[in-house]
Amino acid sequence: MTPIEWVSGKGEHSGASGLKKGEACAGCHVEDGKLSLDLKRLASKELEPKGAPKTMSYPVNVQAAYDANNLYVRLTFKAPGGGADHSDKDNEVKATVMFPNDKVTIGDQVGCWAACHKDARTMPGADDKKTKYATPGAMDLMQWKSGGGGKAVDGTVTDKRNMEGGKAGVTAEGAKAGDTYTVTFTRKLAGGVNLAPGKAVPFGIAIHADNASGRFHHVSFGHKLGLGADGDVKAAKQAGKSVDDIAATEEHVAQPPCDEGEHDVVHRGADAILDHLDVVEIGAHEGAEPAVDSYLTQKTVIRGDETIGEIALASIIAKVYRDTLMKEIANSVPEYGFERHVGYGTKYHYDAIKKNGLTKYHRRSFLKNKGNEIV
Ligand code: HEC
Repeated sequence: MTPIEWVSGKGEHSGASGLKKGEACAGCHVEDGKLSLDLKRLASKELEPKGAPKTMSYPVNVQAAYDANNLYVRLTFKAPGGGADHSDKDNEVKATVMFPNDKVTIGDQVGCWAACHKDARTMPGADDKKTKYATPGAMDLMQWKSGGGGKAVDGTVTDKRNMEGGKAGVTAEGAKAGDTYTVTFTRKLAGGVNLAPGKAVPFGIAIHADNASGRFHHVSFGHKLGLGADGDVKAAKQAGKSVDDIAATEEHVAQPPCDEGEHDVVHRGADAILDHLDVVEIGAHEGAEPAVDSYLTQKTVIRGDETIGEIALASIIAKVYRDTLMKEIANSVPEYGFERHVGYGTKYHYDAIKKNGLTKYHRRSFLKNKGNEIV
């Protein structure tokens, strides 16, 4: 299991610096609507000492609707067998949807991944007394358990995982037809996390299949649920209250906003700031590279983007500028998907390099070599 400390810590995960700049997991790891993760690595001892299930990923269809009082969410999925853990004897399947509030650290980028701490109860090496989950914020948790004809949980995740005492009035119904599960949740718009019409809220899904318990679940990245607003999943407004009114919704992956106009504005702001600086301070995340020689008085501030406003701004400008550039480059070499991963070493990107070779845009010094294979 890859806890939040691993994904946000420097050194092991190259997405960590992107996360700090506001990138979402799905922004780097969903490409062409498909999951882009090295599943072999996920199943390896490095990331999950107890091994992984046979089926590592599968699609879950998410539909949603709302009315004056309630939100309805329906999940449809095939729960695969072949799991690595079967310690929940009572429930073949548990399906969970979680909504982080705005105090959960990077909750809007990572969804319920924020609740996965390496010191949480069932993580390797942690003991039963460790309870750090989603502090300082809280998440609403709604779960359906298949055992005993089905049971709904209205809970929260704070510094503990509370499987009752939620304020959202959750009910849930589930059924299995053939190998397909359909689970429909109903909750109040007002709960621990208030879901306001016209807004998008972050959410995440976790599914325990094949009697799995604890951390042995499949988990989505954080996505946005738009209540009559744009989102990865759009909840349509219903006049009636029937759950069967739920409209099919499109699921797509949002691209980070970046247009020329925005870029210009940021650029002008930065010029104004730079005019007033005597010493150009350069914050270097990786490698501490010096600024170009035309800046005569310069000083390196490691991780300066976390402590100095001008550097933070410059790093945002650099990112917006670079993303725009990458999208332009994508037009001339479309087979590499630069417009989506903007050059990060995602699986899709490396697969494209293996297939098509390098272009003049690739920096060779950034490639990692494992044996003879470029990875
Ligand atoms: C800025 C882009 C970026 C973001 C944001 C990002 N990642 Fe990654 N991630 C990468 C890259 C690139 C790799 C592969 C290289 C490496 O090991 O660092 C990777 C690797 C991984 C791996 C190991 C499996 C593999 O494919 O190598 C996991 C697990 C992972 N990321 C999870 C996450 C999660 C969870 C989030 C959100 C909390 C996230 N990532 C956010 C870029 C990103």
